[in-house]
Amino acid sequence: MTRQSLIIDCDPGVDDAVALMLAFGSDRLETLAISTVAGNAPLDKTTRNARMLRQIAGRDDVPIHAGADRPLRRKRAGAGEFHGEEGLGFLTPFPPSKPIADGHGVDALIRHVLERPEKTVALAVLGPMTNLALALRKESSLAARLGPVAVMGGARSEGGNITPSAEFNVWADPEAADEVLRSGCDIVMFGLDVTHQVRADDARIALIAGKHTPAGDTAAAMMRFSQKVEREIVGWDSPPVHDLCPVAWLARPELFELKPCRIQIEIQSELTRGHTAVEFRVEASTAPHRWATKADADGVFALLAEAVS
Ligand code: RIB
Ligand code: CA
Repeated sequence: MTRQSLIIDCDPGVDDAVALMLAFGSDRLETLAISTVAGNAPLDKTTRNARMLRQIAGRDDVPIHAGADRPLRRKRAGAGEFHGEEGLGFLTPFPPSKPIADGHGVDALIRHVLERPEKTVALAVLGPMTNLALALRKESSLAARLGPVAVMGGARSEGGNITPSAEFNVWADPEAADEVLRSGCDIVMFGLDVTHQVRADDARIALIAGKHTPAGDTAAAMMRFSQKVEREIVGWDSPPVHDLCPVAWLARPELFELKPCRIQIEIQSELTRGHTAVEFRVEASTAPHRWATKADADGVFALLAEAVS
């Protein structure tokens, strides 16, 4: 089995944490580096959290680079109520033993992609797209050299989760999302339409906890925190584990159905800021983007269970 090399750009964040446990443990993926971004929590916390999760998973071999501490233009806005004060739910912060790697996350992304044959390094973006937008501005060849860019963001038929019109990651930095979607990168977008199909119910959480490993215990704890919060705030019993989707697709693409499309981002209106206008009436052969419409949720959780075993 050939392993997909990837870089993960994230803002841990409880669902980012579950996605990282998948990436760290899957033998279908080779995680070259992690970059962090401000989003669910400020950059210092998302970066500390990524280092904590790396240590829990026993993957201190993966370098972590801190990235952008704010959006391209907007003020930083968090989603603390869904991730807890420290960004990892109930998990008490501890000082991770390994420091961050030298170099900004944007430069690390560029370096890793340019060091390898073109289209061989994929990117999973699990937070606001600020770092990728900055990297595309800095390196003109990046869009052509990057492999698939699997992004968690946007909403079409599901409606928004931070406003009626928009999903948090795109809403948090709509200008970055707009620049990324205009860049020519091979974008596959996993919006709420598909992430709302991948929910952590009691049985799936028990499957992961049942592996009795530090990675499995941590992933289960993150999902249990989400269960509590989503019950209180949204009234859902089983929270969607949004950020699992892009990483699971890079590991096993057959678990998802995608549709060719053209995606445009609202950056003018305050009312609909960050709305993803997804147009399916395109020629498949020349469509600039792909939008995930279906997920095999049991397959995704089986993949996670394999990875945390
Ligand atoms: O809207 C869901 C997204 O926003 C996820 O990436 C979650 O971690 C938050 O960042
Ligand atoms: Ca995230």
